[in-house]
Amino acid sequence: MNDRDELLNRLGPFGQSHVLRFWDRLSESHRTSLASQLARIDFAEISRLYARRGDVADFGRLLERMEPLPAIRLADRAELAAEASSVGLSALAAGRAAAMVVAGGQGTRLGFEHPKGLFPIGPLSRRTLFQIHVEKVLATSRRCGAGLPLFVMTSPATDAETREFLARNDRFGLPAEDLFIFCQGTMPAVSAADGRLLLDAEDHVAESPDGHGGMPAALARSGGLDELARRGIEHILYFQVDNPLAAALDPWFLGLHLLRGAEMSSQVVAKRSPEDRVGNVVSVDGRLHVVEYSDLPDEFAQLRSADGSLMVWAGSIAVHVINVDLLRRSVTDRQALPFHLAHKRVPFLDDEGRRIDPPAPNAIKFERFIFDLMPHARKGLVVEVDPAEAFSPLKNAPGSATDSPQWVRERMIDLHRRWLSDAGVRLSETAAVEISPLWALDADEAARKSARGARVVRPTYFSPDGPVEVDPAALS
Ligand code: UTP
Repeated sequence: MNDRDELLNRLGPFGQSHVLRFWDRLSESHRTSLASQLARIDFAEISRLYARRGDVADFGRLLERMEPLPAIRLADRAELAAEASSVGLSALAAGRAAAMVVAGGQGTRLGFEHPKGLFPIGPLSRRTLFQIHVEKVLATSRRCGAGLPLFVMTSPATDAETREFLARNDRFGLPAEDLFIFCQGTMPAVSAADGRLLLDAEDHVAESPDGHGGMPAALARSGGLDELARRGIEHILYFQVDNPLAAALDPWFLGLHLLRGAEMSSQVVAKRSPEDRVGNVVSVDGRLHVVEYSDLPDEFAQLRSADGSLMVWAGSIAVHVINVDLLRRSVTDRQALPFHLAHKRVPFLDDEGRRIDPPAPNAIKFERFIFDLMPHARKGLVVEVDPAEAFSPLKNAPGSATDSPQWVRERMIDLHRRWLSDAGVRLSETAAVEISPLWALDADEAARKSARGARVVRPTYFSPDGPVEVDPAALS
């Protein structure tokens, strides 16, 4: 329907007719592409969301009813480790769980020109984030003796390149039937000043991925929920592509989730200071919630228990076990995953068609967050992990103090050095090491494979086939 008048009738009531500004000079095919993009946009919803931009959620009122967080702390781990791991491994062997990595973000802070999953993060191997995650899935498959699936969420910004990359590399050994790639939806960005859509081309409205919370809807649309049902999968182990230390299919974490009868379980790290910039997991009226650091009132951030520890202590690292039933309910309940508004810089065309690169945030983007599922879980569980073992996200450009490529690589080296030195291997001060999950998936396996008293004096990559010395000068 390339009828301009028909489009104007639809756009007019929402004050969005300006997106047809260049209509007269568009070719027929460009008109078709703009018209089909406009057909996908829910203008009433955009209007509603923009109208609520000034609403301030009263987190103080919620937090007044805060109760101690029911959590499995690091100190409780040893006691539960064996039973949880065995329960988790049995569920994996029975094909009841799948891994899911969300990889639809635009990675603007990192400034890498490809999807973040293609970043060669391996400190010595230069393996990409995707390869590391796939190797964990394969290593866990081997351990439990069953093929385990990996679901990958992309977005229009990352989809084509991700598919091409995984295909070109034969999915790093993952069987084709165990890889399910699905693409999330988008939301238009609007001008912060007046709520009008922004054009980023004469025939295209500026859009961005609709947040990691767009996952359940995208999974439903793509047939992924049916695929989960067909395979009898009841639990998703969810993580983010930028954390190479994420436990892709950790039997222990899955086992805790099952033993406690949870519907959603979330890994957290203990905050070092009240001001840490993390999502804070809190418990209110028996339900878990995440309160973003920017929403956490200072008087609650500073609250301390009798022993001096922070009351709001748990920072989410976005690693969750989520029951498929909960995902299904969230698709039908539109309130379950509300849109959050963020002020961002979005380049756009001005009235004369000139491209403007605004120096400061000019637009509002709408995103859903997966952690909003937490209060909808009939039972939630919080599991504390050690960030040195489980959380080292690649967010920032080279040269940044934290979360940069170098910072992440150093954290990976520190962890793998620790596995080997705990196993009795003697490492020279300067010997960087990196371990493939296909050589050792965890510290215990590294210990089983290492000879006590063995020496590592040069940088060494423990590849799937065994240790290989690496010349650091050859690395870019
Ligand atoms: P971030 O919020 O850190 O965003 O995403 P990002 O795209 O990686 O980086 P910036 O903020 O633009 O610099 C956390 C995780 O959620 C995924 C990302 O791919 C990353 O794994 N994500 C984010 C999605 O899959 N879809 C989205 O719409 C947003």
